[in-house]
Order: sequence, then C-alpha cells, then structure tokens
Amino acid sequence: MKIRPESQEDYQAIEEITRAAFKDHPYSRQTEHLIIRSLREQGDLAISLVAEEKGKVAGHIAFSKVIIGERDQSWYGMGPVSVAPLYQRQGIGSKLVRAGLQALRQIKGKGCVLVGDPLFYDRFGFKAESCLTFEHAPKENFMALCLQGELPRGEVLFHQAFAVSS
Ligand SMILES: CC(C)(COP(=O)(O)OP(=O)(O)OC[C@H]1O[C@@H](n2cnc3c(N)ncnc32)[C@H](O)[C@@H]1OP(=O)(O)O)[C@@H](O)C(=O)NCCC(=O)NCCS
Repeated sequence: MKIRPESQEDYQAIEEITRAAFKDHPYSRQTEHLIIRSLREQGDLAISLVAEEKGKVAGHIAFSKVIIGERDQSWYGMGPVSVAPLYQRQGIGSKLVRAGLQALRQIKGKGCVLVGDPLFYDRFGFKAESCLTFEHAPKENFMALCLQGELPRGEVLFHQAFAVSS
C-alpha cells in the first residue's frame, strides 16, 4: 500500500470512494465529494493524499485551512477522510491520517482540527480542547491536535466549501 499526493487521474476515483464511504454514515449529508471538488476548484485543497492498493485508489484524505478567532493561524481542518468500504478496518485510514499529519508538518501547519468519532481519532492525539469552539458539532466530536506552538483560542471556521449543498 502506497500513500501519495493526488493527481488529476485520481479525481474520479476519489469522488467514488468518498460517496461510497459516506453512503450510510449517520451524520453525512452526502456532500463530502462536493466539498473536495469545491476546495480543489478554489485552489484551497492544501493537502490531498490517496492510498493506493494494487494500483487502485482505496482511500483519501483532505486538509484545508481554517480560520480561528477570525484569523489565519496556520491551522488546518482534516477531512473528508474516506476508505472504500471493502478496504475499511485494515489500517488504511490510520496510515492516511498519519501521513496527512506528516505532510501538514512539512508545510509548517501549526495544528489541525476535525469533526469525527473520538474512538478513531484519539489514537493520533486528537482531543476536545475547551479554548477551540465549533458550534456545528457536539463538543466531544470537535477535536484538535497542536503540532507547533501554543493552542490558539476562538471559534473555528472551516472553508466555505464545507457549506456546499447537494
Ligand atoms: C473512518 C475511516 C476513514 C477509518 O478508516 P479505516 O481504514 O477503516 O480505519 P483503520 O483500519 O485504520 O482503523 C481501524 C480502527 O478504527 C476504528 N474505526 C474505524 N472506523 C471507525 C468509525 N467510523 N468509528 C469508530 N471507530 C472506527 C476501528 O474500530 C479500528 O479500531 P481498532 O484498531 O481499535 O480495532 C473509514 O472507516 C471510513 O471511510 N468510514 C466512512 C467515512 C467516515 O466515517 N469518515 C470519517 C468521518 S470523521
């Protein structure tokens, strides 16, 4: 299994995997593939990695800048993260998260936030932080990981692409 940056030839596979992974997700509005597309079109898909298994795209992870306390603090939002249903629970998602965080360090990202299940994201060091707030998710599902410096303080705003409707 290989993890590498996306290329144009991957766009279709990324879209298909994202749709399939979120198909039965309880909190999904089935717009995740549109979010990725919109971020890419606006040039704001800061990091986009694919997991390739036997020459096929099996998973994908995206990162984009967030605004915290109305400022760009070099923090990023992780997501959407998708692993094709047939490949789930084989360690691919974890490898994508770790590779994504490594890529974030390389572009001097100071930290990362996400909305997700603590059962999965705990293991990477993500946790709810009271100084970072996000009104659109339950407290325990909004998690942060500081990579450099101190935790900023304030309300977090994801890229406008996350407001895209189906
Ligand atoms: C979440 C997802 C990216 C994880 O990828 P994966 O390759 O299946 O995960 P891994 O095999 O690396 O990790 C497996 C571990 O995470 C746990 N896990 C996987 N998906 C989980 C989920 N949705 N909720 C809670 N725990 C989950 C597994 O129980 C397993 O734990 P264990 O190692 O203690 O047994 C993948 O399941 C997926 O695409 N799900 C649908 C879309 C989604 O929910 N995306 C994330 C939104 S926040």
